[in-house]
Amino acid sequence: MLATEALAGLALEAGGYYVDATFGRGGHTALILQALGPEGRVLALDRDPQAIAAGKRHFAHEVRLTLAHASFADLAALVPAHAHQHPCRGVLFDLGVSSPQLEDPRRGFSFRADGPLDMRMDPTRGEPVSAWLARARDDEIRQVIATFGEERFARRIAQAIVTRRSKGALENTAELASLVAAAVRTREPGKHPATRTFQALRMFINDELGQLERGLHAALEVLAAGGRLAVISFHSLEDRVVKRFMQRESQVNPALGELPAIPAEARPRLKLIGRKLRPSEEELARNPRARSALLRVAERQP
Ligand SMILES: C[S@@+](CC[C@H](N)C(=O)[O-])C[C@H]1O[C@@H](n2cnc3c(N)ncnc32)[C@H](O)[C@@H]1O
Repeated sequence: MLATEALAGLALEAGGYYVDATFGRGGHTALILQALGPEGRVLALDRDPQAIAAGKRHFAHEVRLTLAHASFADLAALVPAHAHQHPCRGVLFDLGVSSPQLEDPRRGFSFRADGPLDMRMDPTRGEPVSAWLARARDDEIRQVIATFGEERFARRIAQAIVTRRSKGALENTAELASLVAAAVRTREPGKHPATRTFQALRMFINDELGQLERGLHAALEVLAAGGRLAVISFHSLEDRVVKRFMQRESQVNPALGELPAIPAEARPRLKLIGRKLRPSEEELARNPRARSALLRVAERQP
C-alpha cells in the first residue's frame, strides 16, 4: 500500500514529532501513532472543519495528537506554536480530496449525486464554485478548465456555462455535470465526461497548486536536519509541482555552485530518498481512484 510506503519513507522514530498535513479521516495519523511510543507526538492539520471535528471525536483520548483546523500553507507558523521546541522529524502530505468529501453531495464535489455547486474544502472561507461561475468571464472559465482539467473541450464547456447562466444561476452539480457532458464530444473509457471539469473547478476554487507550493516551502522551514518529507500526489499537475520542488531543492544553487567553496546557503536543502512509487496492482484493484497516485520522499539536509 502506498500508505505503508509513505510511512516507511518517514523513517518513524518512536519519540519523534511528526506532522500529518492532510488529516482527512485520520488513516495515516492512526498508522503514525501506532508506530510511535508514549513520547511521540503528531500535529495533524486539515483545512476542512468537518474533518477536524470528526477527528476530535474519534481520537478524543489520544493525548499524543493535536488537531488543528488550518491550511498546510501555514505550517511554518503552526509547527513552532505547537511543537514546543521538539525537532520536527517528518511531514506527510496526502493530497487531493477525501472520500467523505467526495461522498457527501452537500459538499458539491461530486458529479454523480446532486448537490450545491460548492467544492470548497474549507466552506468557512472563499466563495463556492457557483458564485465564481456566475461572475467569471468566458475566457477565464475556459482557461481554468483547460489548465487544471487538461480538457480539450474547455472552450465549448465555457460557452455552454455562459449561455446557461444568462437564464439564471447555475447552482447544482447535476446540472453542471449534464451541461458539460453535452459539450464534451468524445468519451474517455471509464471516465465521466465531467471528471476533468469538476477537477479543474475544484483545484481552482481551493487554489490547490498555490497551497501546495506554499506548503512544501513551509515544510522545508520546519523540518529538522535528517527529517523526512513524504508527499502522495493524485495527479500529474500536483506531481509536477512536487517533482520540481524536490529537484530544485536537492541541487546546488547553480548561481553559487561555481564558487571554489560552496557557501552554506547554496547547499541543497533536500536529498531525494528512493524513487517515486506508484500503488501496487493489488491496491489499484481495491481502490481504482488511486490510479494516478505517486509517492515521493526526500530528507532535510543540515
Ligand atoms: C486524500 S485526503 C487525506 C486522507 C488522509 N491521509 C487519511 O488517511 O484519511 C486529503 C485531505 O487534505 C485536506 N487538504 C487539502 N488541501 C489542504 C490544505 N491546503 N491544508 C490542509 N488540508 C488540506 C483535504 O481537506 C482532505 O481532507
